[in-house]
Amino acid sequence: MNEQTEQKLGVVGGGLMGHGIAYLFAAAGHHVNVFEPFSEIRGALPRRLQAIADLLGDDPSLLDRIAAHDSLAATMRGADWVFEAAPEKLALKQEIFAAIEPLVAPTTILASNSSAIPSTEIGRHLTHRERVIGTHFWNPPHLVPLVEVIQNEKTGAEIVARTMRLLRGVGKVPVHVRRDIPGFVGNRLQHAMKREAIALVAAGVCDAETIDTVVREGFGARTAVLGPMEQADLVGLDLQLDVAEVLYGDLDRTAGPHQFLRDKVKAGKLGMKTGEGFHKWTAEQADAVRNRLSRFLAEQAKARRKNPTHLAGA
Ligand SMILES: NC(=O)c1ccc[n+]([C@@H]2O[C@H](COP(=O)([O-])OP(=O)(O)OC[C@H]3O[C@@H](n4cnc5c(N)ncnc54)[C@H](O)[C@@H]3O)[C@@H](O)[C@H]2O)c1
Repeated sequence: MNEQTEQKLGVVGGGLMGHGIAYLFAAAGHHVNVFEPFSEIRGALPRRLQAIADLLGDDPSLLDRIAAHDSLAATMRGADWVFEAAPEKLALKQEIFAAIEPLVAPTTILASNSSAIPSTEIGRHLTHRERVIGTHFWNPPHLVPLVEVIQNEKTGAEIVARTMRLLRGVGKVPVHVRRDIPGFVGNRLQHAMKREAIALVAAGVCDAETIDTVVREGFGARTAVLGPMEQADLVGLDLQLDVAEVLYGDLDRTAGPHQFLRDKVKAGKLGMKTGEGFHKWTAEQADAVRNRLSRFLAEQAKARRKNPTHLAGA
C-alpha cells in the first residue's frame, strides 16, 4: 500500500489531541472522520480547526476533508487507519478498541495516542493484535514534529514500517520505539529532568523561575539542534564520564513522586488552571505563555514546511 496517497482515517476523540491529529492529516490531503460522543465538544470542532488554519495561514478549504460524527460506525467506514485519542483510561480504551474491531477490515491499523498506557494492554482482547500500535503525538500534534511509534509485543514489523511512512508523508518525524515501556522515550527523558528540577526547588537550591531560566537560556537554547547524545559526543565521552562520576550519586533518587509535588497537589496548587503551581499565575500571564508557545511552534512549523530540513539533523 502506498501511504503517500489519500488514506481514510478515523480519529476517536475530538478533544485537545484528536482535533490536532485530524487537522494534520487533512492538511496533507487525507480524509478524516472524527468520532466525538459529546455534542458540545463536537460542535466546537469547526472553530478549533479554523483556529489552526488561521495560525498556520492555511487555506481553510482543507477542513472540508474532516467530518465529525456521533457514531463510531460512521467514523470507521472504510478506514485504513484509526488514531484513538480518547481519555487516558485503560478500561475505556479497551472498550473502544473492542467496539472498533468488528467495524473495520482486519488489516486496518489501530493506533493509540496514549501517553503512558501500553498498547499491548489496550489491544489485549482483540483478535488481530498484530495491527495494534502506539503512536504518541506531542501536544500540539499539528505543530510538534515528533511522533513516537511504539511497537508492542504483538505489533508486526510491517505495521511499524507503514505507520512510519504514513507519518513521514505528512511531515512528522516518527521514531521507532522497540519496547512498550511506561513513558516510552520522550516522557522518560522529560520526567527525569523534572524529577531533579522539583528536588532542587524543594531543597531551596533555587526557585522555580531559576529552573526555567537555566533550561530555556542554557542547554535548552541548543536542544532543538543538538540532542544530548550528540552533545556528549561533541564534548567527549571522557568528560561525560568524569562529570557522571562526580554528579550521578548526588542526583535525586526519591522513589515515587517528591513530597513537594504531592503537597502542591493536595493544597490545590495545580498550575495555571488554579492560579498557582510552581509559579503564581494571573489569567493574563497564563494566556501570554500559551500565546508565546503557540506562536513559536507555529513559526517553526511554517519554516519546516518551506524547508523540511529546518533545524533537523540533515
Ligand atoms: N494532552 C496532551 O498533552 C497529550 C499528549 C500526548 C498524548 N495524550 C493522550 O491523548 C489522549 C487524549 O488526550 P487529550 O488531551 O486530547 O484529552 P481530551 O480530554 O482533550 O480529549 C479526549 C476526548 O475524548 C472524548 N471521549 C470521551 N469518551 C469517549 C469515548 N468513549 N469514545 C471516544 N471519545 C471519547 C472526550 O469527549 C474528549 O473530547 C489521552 O490518551 C492522552 O493521554 C495527551
